[in-house]
Amino acid sequence: MRLPLHTHERLTLGLLCSVPLLLARVTAEVEDVFGGVDQVAFQPSPAESSSTTRPTLRDQAAAFLSRQQTYPDGASEPRLVGTSTVPNSTFSLWYRRPAEDDNVEREGLVIGNGPMQVLVPGMVNRERLLLSEESCWTGGPNEYKKYRGGNVDEESAPKRLKSLERVQHILAEKAYLPSKSDVTKGLMGDEHGFGHPAPFGSIVIEEMYPFEQVWDYRRELDLSKGVVKVSFSVGDVNYTREHFCSNPESVCMMRIQASEPKKVDISVRFETPYAAEYSNVHNRLTFRASLPSNNMTIEAQVALKTEGGTGVTMSDKTRIIALGFDSVTLYYAMGTGWSVANYPGFQDQDPHDHLTSLLDKATTLWYQDQYIKHTEDVGALFKGFSIDFNQPVNTLPTDQLIKVATKAYAKEGQTFDQEAYLELLLLQYARYLLIISSRPGSLPIASRIAWTDDTLKDEDGIGDYFRLNINLQMNYWLAESTNLGETMTPLMDYIEKLLVDRGQATTMLHYNARGWIAHTYSNVWAHTGPTSTSNSYYFPGAAAWLCQHAWDRYLYSQDYYFLRDHAYAWLKGASQFWIDTLVQSHKGAVPTPIDDDDAGLFVSSPSYSPEQDPFAEGSALDQQLIWQLFNATLEAIAVLGERDKVFVQNLTDRYARLSPGLAISDGLLQEYTLAGLEDRTERRRHLGHLYAVYPGNQLSYQRTEDPDRHHQLVEAARTSLHRKGTGVEFGNLGWPKVWRAAVWARLGETGKALDALQMFKKHNLDKNELNLLPASSSSSRDLAGFLGFGAAMLETLVTSLRPGELHVFPWPQGLPERWSKKGVVEGFRTREGHKVDVIWSQGRVTQVQLQALSKAGPMVVKIGTMDGKVQVQVLQGTKPVAFERDGTFIKLEVSKGTTYTIALDYD
Ligand SMILES: *[C@@H]1O[C@H](CO)[C@@H](O)[C@H](O)[C@H]1NC(C)=O
Ligand SMILES: *[C@@H]1O[C@H](CO)[C@@H](O)[C@H](O)[C@H]1NC(C)=O
Ligand SMILES: *[C@@H]1O[C@H](CO)[C@@H](O)[C@H](O)[C@H]1NC(C)=O
Ligand SMILES: *[C@@H]1O[C@H](CO)[C@@H](O)[C@H](O)[C@H]1NC(C)=O
Ligand SMILES: *[C@@H]1O[C@H](CO)[C@@H](O)[C@H](O)[C@H]1NC(C)=O
Repeated sequence: MRLPLHTHERLTLGLLCSVPLLLARVTAEVEDVFGGVDQVAFQPSPAESSSTTRPTLRDQAAAFLSRQQTYPDGASEPRLVGTSTVPNSTFSLWYRRPAEDDNVEREGLVIGNGPMQVLVPGMVNRERLLLSEESCWTGGPNEYKKYRGGNVDEESAPKRLKSLERVQHILAEKAYLPSKSDVTKGLMGDEHGFGHPAPFGSIVIEEMYPFEQVWDYRRELDLSKGVVKVSFSVGDVNYTREHFCSNPESVCMMRIQASEPKKVDISVRFETPYAAEYSNVHNRLTFRASLPSNNMTIEAQVALKTEGGTGVTMSDKTRIIALGFDSVTLYYAMGTGWSVANYPGFQDQDPHDHLTSLLDKATTLWYQDQYIKHTEDVGALFKGFSIDFNQPVNTLPTDQLIKVATKAYAKEGQTFDQEAYLELLLLQYARYLLIISSRPGSLPIASRIAWTDDTLKDEDGIGDYFRLNINLQMNYWLAESTNLGETMTPLMDYIEKLLVDRGQATTMLHYNARGWIAHTYSNVWAHTGPTSTSNSYYFPGAAAWLCQHAWDRYLYSQDYYFLRDHAYAWLKGASQFWIDTLVQSHKGAVPTPIDDDDAGLFVSSPSYSPEQDPFAEGSALDQQLIWQLFNATLEAIAVLGERDKVFVQNLTDRYARLSPGLAISDGLLQEYTLAGLEDRTERRRHLGHLYAVYPGNQLSYQRTEDPDRHHQLVEAARTSLHRKGTGVEFGNLGWPKVWRAAVWARLGETGKALDALQMFKKHNLDKNELNLLPASSSSSRDLAGFLGFGAAMLETLVTSLRPGELHVFPWPQGLPERWSKKGVVEGFRTREGHKVDVIWSQGRVTQVQLQALSKAGPMVVKIGTMDGKVQVQVLQGTKPVAFERDGTFIKLEVSKGTTYTIALDYD
């Protein structure tokens, strides 16, 4: 159930009715109440004593307060007239109208600094900033005393192990067990206390003299700056409001400014769905509440800083009114009692002092300096990668842009100039979302949008905000290659601080094994045990999947100490679990492995292919994940060395005798390595068995080892992907289409990849023409598709499958003209962190520049359009560099710190 629309009005009245009572008490404590000393706490005003308007303003403010309602009866949003200019920014979301108040979750523009996110609707007379803080979650040990991250307790562990043995035993005899059978249900976990993100509240800013009509309204989110700007004019006065959340300062700001003096007249207050305590000290409003479910403290503070000597501020416990200023700046911050340092008990840690000191500090600094510092911080990350199709300058507001750019679907084959811009905007918007949601010190960017207005959302059932069987990982697909390695830190910290320790208990209690694992779902409370969600409760492969990102983090950063002191322990632990639990599939027994060669090889048991049924030994996804994990762990050992010789021996042995999870039957790549289990007809959204193609790279490894086998596998993957359909089944979400696009791109079917991306735009954008956010129905509030879109797109243009390899226009045939006719990529990163710039025109790559930032070594560069003369030069050098050429491949040795220019001549 959703709260009825405009609930805030009712809430507000409720709060305001109690104001007179509160006032009596507050007056004694707070000097600012009712016309106390106004700006003193902030900027002393030279004109204060000579002000003549002041008494009048004070009377007005008092009148507003005593009406017990800040917002005049009957006032509503103004009529919008005129047409604003087009913003001067390359990538922005912008509109000529505000979001609807009851649709802020869908239409608001999002700003953030890692832990805090704010949706800005851009309303004029009554603006309502929807606050969210990533750790504001229900559940955990303070809600459910016995919460252990889904693990059983020690007394129940033997029983649990018996269930496991029974399942394994049956699977060794008999091919499979349905996931809903009584035996397999014994593997389900406890979801008690899992929780879900909870709403925080809002800050409401009201115009004290509401406008009836405003001119040239515009709201804009400039992605390269991370600033939302709302502007309009009334008569001769231009109003602007700037919003951003600063990562360097850990606070959010809103500056309200008029082009004429004394024209800012506003009231500011909080709204929160909880029973809250309000206070006000020196024009700083605070609300504190405890979440009803788990008693977690939440607090928000907002401080006002005013400019312009003649204004007055008046306030009571819940509101501040500022009248007659030139500008007003709001500084605000939110916090909760959650702290990663308090794992596993998560004792509440009062955020009050921390928030107070953040705001104390921020309010002493100059806004302009803070603005510059913030835009430089976002800009440095955002501009680290750029891509351009020489598309025309966008002049359309985003809502119209989406309409126009997706009209192409009406007529097959027709394209619009705007389409290329929209695609680039999606790619850059994903990078922006990573920058504002995933910064060192914060939690990872959640799979599901947590920006919510609704206390009752997802009340039953666990939230899949950290869903570890594709979604959380897909959120980060774009990060490394587009030079946003810094945004990976939260995912790495999450593994280290919230999963590894608890995951060790999971392997011990549930499997009697060493190492660590996680299952499909996790949360802020370190959930690593299985859940009881049918069809997805069981998935011990999650840890291996996360480890792929840890190994990639090392590859892209070449940070030896990160590998030695952090990631290696996770890789080793995740590998140890599989060394201890893999079983040998036996030849001649029922079930028979599809591939004769698989008999006697090691497989996981039990195993479950996500969203498929049944349980069986060795699902393709498990085997491919384990292959990728063992491969990375061995590679890491080659870098670091390992004294534990037994471990090395066990790992090498298992890697050599691991079933690779690449069984072919009837020309199809199978989801299970055993015969007779594949449901060949059903279209499903999950592509577990194609992990080896993307995001893994096992299939490409086969290319070098055994080209014939590689060819067979590619064909089988292709056929099987066809059978899987377009991904519109089961909720019609974005991520299945984007995953398809990425797999098609790796298989060399650029055209099919494009089709899948078109499907995404058609189904997952058009319901929501106002923003580049998923539609609001709860089943489709999944960010993964949005964040992965650009990665799939880039896969068709420039990609690095593994260290030492770079592919540019790998399969140019299927590229659409709007992408290939002319363009530039700058700042792409290879899998060893080299920087790559590419220039192309008329469908052909003309120059590739490779800056070997991190290490020396051989590089193989494939340029799909290469057919004439090729020259390689050191930048600014004149001597040609030696290289070998083989068709569209060239091979050269790079030295660290040198930039190589590969120039292609087609005449
Ligand atoms: C638009 O932005 C560019 C740089 O981003 C700047 O050089 C130019 O002066 C700006 N134009 C206006 C009208 O602000
Ligand atoms: C207000 O904005 C308009 C249009 O953007 C501009 O022409 C005008 O100079 C501005 N006025 C002031 C006082 O800044
Ligand atoms: C809730 O937390 C507060 C401190 O934050 C504590 O004083 C209170 O006893 C707790 N209430 C419950 C029911 O645990
Ligand atoms: C690991 O290797 C040691 C030494 O070769 C061997 O004794 C042991 O059985 C192996 N363990 C596993 C689980 O394979
Ligand atoms: C790991 O896989 C890569 C291919 O991705 C391959 O080149 C490498 O030799 C493998 N490493 C080991 C230790 O087998």
